[in-house]
Amino acid sequence: MNVDVMTRPAVLILLGPPGAGKGTQARMLQEKFGLVQLSTGDLLRAAVAAGTPAGKQAKAVMDAGGLVSDEIVIAILNDRIAAEDCRNGVILDGFPRTTVQAQALDDLLSSTGQKINAAISLEVDDSAMVERISGRSTCAGCGEGYHDTFKPPHNGACVKCGSTELTRRADDRAETVASRLEAYHAQTAPLIAYYKAAGVLKSVDAMAEIDKVAGDMASVVRSVIG
Ligand code: AP5
Repeated sequence: MNVDVMTRPAVLILLGPPGAGKGTQARMLQEKFGLVQLSTGDLLRAAVAAGTPAGKQAKAVMDAGGLVSDEIVIAILNDRIAAEDCRNGVILDGFPRTTVQAQALDDLLSSTGQKINAAISLEVDDSAMVERISGRSTCAGCGEGYHDTFKPPHNGACVKCGSTELTRRADDRAETVASRLEAYHAQTAPLIAYYKAAGVLKSVDAMAEIDKVAGDMASVVRSVIG
């Protein structure tokens, strides 16, 4: 692992609609910079699978493509970000998604003396999202993400852990994707202006190929950490 050196814990936010590539890029940045990817989608799916009270409440909302309540998501995120492995810095993938969540994050970081290094907006066309999401699969062994066309597994197996068990998400149906995009434009897209006003907004063209986007993301990260 080639980990770039940081002098203080970084806080990076990845903004973008469903299928923009937040998870794909967060996992690559995690390896390159030694940061921890915190995906509220993954944390919620784990809560659903574990059948926790929060997971039971979240399930119906996620299946319908809506946003889970701020209260549940903020509580889950606050618990996870306090863990020991997050002390070198985090990549927030899918959080915040509302202004209430953004304000809760500001409060949390000011209480710990941390700052947001960058909120990176992955710029994509809505028209590409259904194709990206409908071709997506995830390795059941290690969570690595794949795409039937753009990033296929090697001979049906995960290149990271060798597992041949690839799963598809319940909310990746075309009709749910439309609701998720709607929720993004109504409730999350306003955060682009929020972080622009805060002076931390960066943008990356996420319509390019995965490795090109990764190079652009790494350049942005290098320019804001240290
Ligand atoms: P979440 O899991 O966060 O899903 P999402 O935001 O809809 O994003 P996705 O995971 O679908 O896409 P992505 O941007 O990570 O793209 P990926 O890298 O996989 O949230 C799920 C649900 O949980 C929400 O709907 C909501 O209900 C709830 N939730 C989560 N957080 C919440 C919060 N904070 N508040 C309230 N509710 C919350 O890429 C997609 C595919 O495209 C992959 O197959 C990939 O291989 C491929 N791909 C990636 N980049 C490229 C590229 N450059 N070119 C071609 N293909 C590419």
